[in-house]
Amino acid sequence: MSWEDSLLKQAREIIDMYPQKRSAVGPLLHLAQSKDGYISDDSISVISKLVGITEVQLKSVSTFYSMYKQEPTGKYLLSVCKSISCEINKSDEIIDVVKDFTGLNNNETDKNGLFTFEAVECIGACGGAPAMQVNYETVEGLSPNNTLKLCEWLKKELPEVVVAEEMQEDFGGYKSFDWAISDQSGTTGSVPGFQTLKTTKERN
Ligand code: FES
Repeated sequence: MSWEDSLLKQAREIIDMYPQKRSAVGPLLHLAQSKDGYISDDSISVISKLVGITEVQLKSVSTFYSMYKQEPTGKYLLSVCKSISCEINKSDEIIDVVKDFTGLNNNETDKNGLFTFEAVECIGACGGAPAMQVNYETVEGLSPNNTLKLCEWLKKELPEVVVAEEMQEDFGGYKSFDWAISDQSGTTGSVPGFQTLKTTKERN
């Protein structure tokens, strides 16, 4: 197996949480993506051996869910919602700003590996439409102008950790409601940050 021992240990701890090994496929794919930024063939091979299902079965899961990436993304994954609530609140203008700023079309990554752009279905922030995510951290109530400022800020400051609450305060607008317990951990890459999977970074 080509995963480092520490990652394999983490994977086995995850597997032990479930009555059947194959039930751990979702979090193991998440772990793989947090390692490389996408689901590599090598990771598919490793997970296949760990849980005892075929690589084809694993591939069918990892390619079904759009949040599992099949190739590397940029440092910042910009996911702009295009579904109905956002659409009637002019998400097309937000999409245009992001496309113009990055020079990218849907599902493209720039040559410097800084940005990936994708127009996505509902991200669960309909009450604060239009909304987008940066590395799966959500910002609601966007205006075209603030979207541009957000993109400029990312390019200039290159933050290692992006935090939804901070971006919301600096670049967001109307927000539907507070989702849950305040979470300042943020994400360090284009994979949702789950503390139990150690894909977040401790902050001061
Ligand atoms: S429709 Fe855009 S967040 Fe739900």
